[in-house]
Amino acid sequence: VSGAELLRVEEKDAREVIPARRADTHKGTYGHVLVVAGSSGKTGAAAMVALSALRSGAGLVTVATRAEALPWVMAHSPEIMGIALPGEGPLGKGDLEALKGALEGKDALVMGPGIPRGPETGALIGDLLAAVDVPAVLDADALNAVAEDLTVLRRAKGPVLLTPHPGEMARLWGRTTKDVQQHRVGVALNMATSLNVTVVLKGSRTLIAEPGGRVFINPTGNAGMATGGTGDVLSGVCGALLAQGIKLPRAAWTAVYAHGLAGDLAAKRRGLMGLIATDLLEDLGSVWVRWG
Ligand code: APR
Ligand code: MG
Repeated sequence: VSGAELLRVEEKDAREVIPARRADTHKGTYGHVLVVAGSSGKTGAAAMVALSALRSGAGLVTVATRAEALPWVMAHSPEIMGIALPGEGPLGKGDLEALKGALEGKDALVMGPGIPRGPETGALIGDLLAAVDVPAVLDADALNAVAEDLTVLRRAKGPVLLTPHPGEMARLWGRTTKDVQQHRVGVALNMATSLNVTVVLKGSRTLIAEPGGRVFINPTGNAGMATGGTGDVLSGVCGALLAQGIKLPRAAWTAVYAHGLAGDLAAKRRGLMGLIATDLLEDLGSVWVRWG
């Protein structure tokens, strides 16, 4: 698979995926994202996913997280709605019914950043994806959880997007991060085609591998984005585009391009050293203005 042709994401192609907003629409037109993220000490991760989805056009965003984390997540912004997941500790099989309930009426799921992970978290994710026909983005600890048994992803009813950084991909693949970096195209492509999912392998020149076998390389982004939380912002953009009805795999390369472009605009204001993840939330707006 290492001989795969690499396609470059072009701005015009990314931009064309975003539909114009019609006047006679309302928040229901733009979808409701469920974000399963955050835990005590990692409430900012959930807030960044939620705010990023709101700044990327989702009509509504709800965060589902453990009760002790929820007020801290919601306090970041009054637009964020919340559902407390009953129970304590790592997410497991006992959370299935609450999450199925939380997903009713939702148009996309983003799961993973900052979640409390335990031995049952991977099985929970498998059961949830098998039960609901909603496009799902798995990031961060949701990826580490399914790494224990990747076959749970084959049970998914809806389209699935995985957004690993190289360390997370190493766990998914069962090899070292160095191996991943030496075989980025092959690893991403293999995972996408064998599991029938879209794979975004992050880092400098992020790759987007489609289940149909195409691999794109993204030209936007910079080393200023090597700072905590920028990946959480990406998963929020992905969730928002999916909730607005943009399909995978197109939603993935558009989100990656827009996120990197926001990073490039943020770097002009903040410098590569000064850039922090929440800057991207502001510069996403400049991307949407530019593409409007
Ligand atoms: N050039 C271009 N883009 C970059 C660069 C770079 N040098 N470095 C990072 N990025 C981009 C990546 O492509 C990706 O979109 O910034 C984002 C970083 O995402 P993550 O690696 O997921 O980082 P982060 O959001 O901080 O993750 C938070 O969750 O994934 C876990 O283990 C991770 O604890 C960490 C937490
Ligand atoms: Mg991350």
